[in-house]
Amino acid sequence: MRADLPMTTTKEEEEESEQVVTPWDVSAGADGKIDYAKLVREFGCSEIDAHLIERMEKCTRTKAHPFLRRGLFFAHRELDEIVTAYERGEKFYLYTGRGPSSESLHLGHLVPFQFTKWLQDAFKVPLVIQLTDDEKFLWKDLQLEDCRRLARENAKDIVACGFNPETTFIFADASYMCSSFYVNMVKIAKCVTFNQAKGIFGFTGDSNIGQIGFPPVQAAPSFPDCFPHMFGMNKKSLKCLIPCAIDQDPYFRMTRDVSHRIGGYKPALVESRFFPALKGESGKMSASDPTSAIYVTDTAKEIKNKINKHAFSGGGATIEEQRENGANLEVDVPWKWLNFFLEDDEKLKEIGEKYGSGEMLTGEIKQILVDVLTPMVEDHQKRRALVTDEVLDVYFNPKKIPKVFLDLFREYEEKEFGKWEKKKGGDAENDDLCAALEEKMKLEGATENEEGCAIGAPKSEDWLRIRKERMQRDAPTEGSKSALKKAAKIKVAAEKKAAEKAAKAAARGEAATCNKN
Ligand code: TYM
Repeated sequence: MRADLPMTTTKEEEEESEQVVTPWDVSAGADGKIDYAKLVREFGCSEIDAHLIERMEKCTRTKAHPFLRRGLFFAHRELDEIVTAYERGEKFYLYTGRGPSSESLHLGHLVPFQFTKWLQDAFKVPLVIQLTDDEKFLWKDLQLEDCRRLARENAKDIVACGFNPETTFIFADASYMCSSFYVNMVKIAKCVTFNQAKGIFGFTGDSNIGQIGFPPVQAAPSFPDCFPHMFGMNKKSLKCLIPCAIDQDPYFRMTRDVSHRIGGYKPALVESRFFPALKGESGKMSASDPTSAIYVTDTAKEIKNKINKHAFSGGGATIEEQRENGANLEVDVPWKWLNFFLEDDEKLKEIGEKYGSGEMLTGEIKQILVDVLTPMVEDHQKRRALVTDEVLDVYFNPKKIPKVFLDLFREYEEKEFGKWEKKKGGDAENDDLCAALEEKMKLEGATENEEGCAIGAPKSEDWLRIRKERMQRDAPTEGSKSALKKAAKIKVAAEKKAAEKAAKAAARGEAATCNKN
């Protein structure tokens, strides 16, 4: 079942609404709704269709996450190409992030992280998570030291979502900034003029120059060589897939525009709708108004009170009205929130039918929501309590030992090529493993790794060779062969014509010269 949210609008309807969706501001149009169809058109992304979801299920042998099945992650850029490459046996990495501006996350922030966790498990790929402490310092009335502290606090909530410590790297900009990262940033920055940045991000003469210079910081992690300890030094060693809500699209529209010019692949995106504010889609979830959202730190009592007192209802004003007309599901927050967090499709369908027809009352759906969210938040809090500073350091550490490139895809590789026995023991055993993996990598065409770089990461020249071999392997089919033959014929005919024309012109030229003489 898909969320009960309309996708299509007419031109006239569009003109009336003045919605704003930027990385820093999200507000609904005049009708109190976000027009997602308009966003898809304006931003130029594509809608995710049932066929693409089916292909994802097939190649991962995993049932689609409810966010995908219900159209909550609804838009993409080249997700289909990532899936096609994966079907061929190519790997990719995931990149997502958080701007640490508050002590804790609200439920809307959990949406991309829960989905990213699903993607990581289903596709068995590594993940990098950026904490933009610098962004929040530049935009908010906060000290940089506060933003750096909040980055670590928020990271605990992110880790509590269950990311694999062996294949997940979390970094905060102010701490991680390194040569490889900076080199990417500066290359990206040179490709974007101030006028373009104004067009994309709405900068004005009052924007501080840190803000104007920030977009390349969020763009850079789209290229794998920002993380040499994981992915090596080759900008094309891996493609990148970015899960986020659609508010982050402008950053990556810019990134995709410059990718080829700096020698990288365009990052792919998978984008979600917004988890609406408690008081309705037109409102904003804000840290300064605790009744606008539910936070992952809220107690059971707070969750219950907030939902009962503040959740915007599309139900009838009286019991009689509700029984008679049913609820308006398009604006009802408890219904929308259940679409995100109630896993059982059948139960959700039943609630939608009963509440929409008036058989169920507002108090009842609110109680169902309380029953779904309370254990979810309590479980999150239990997992977060286990995230000590030591645990966090494991995710943040780029210096430990360089990662083994292939090991980052171990589960994937095992699925494809059978199990690798990782022996228990000290460093010597680890060396054995590395040696074995390097051997395997060499067979695949990679050479020695550079110091501080992922062991066995492909180098540019290897990668070009591997791609060439792949292209030969994926030689044109019969259909495309005949198209190629046809194209070749046309080319020969055109060349012949051009040669005849040139010969005639030359003859004319000679004649003219003779006449002159
Ligand atoms: P931030 O901290 O505003 O948001 C973190 C992530 O949560 C998404 N999000 C939401 N998703 C659903 N419903 C909502 N109501 C909602 N509010 C926020 C955001 O889209 C984001 O995915 N600049 C970024 C941090 C960042 C980043 C990235 C995000 C750096 N690199 C790469 C995504 C991908 C920020 O301030 O996010």
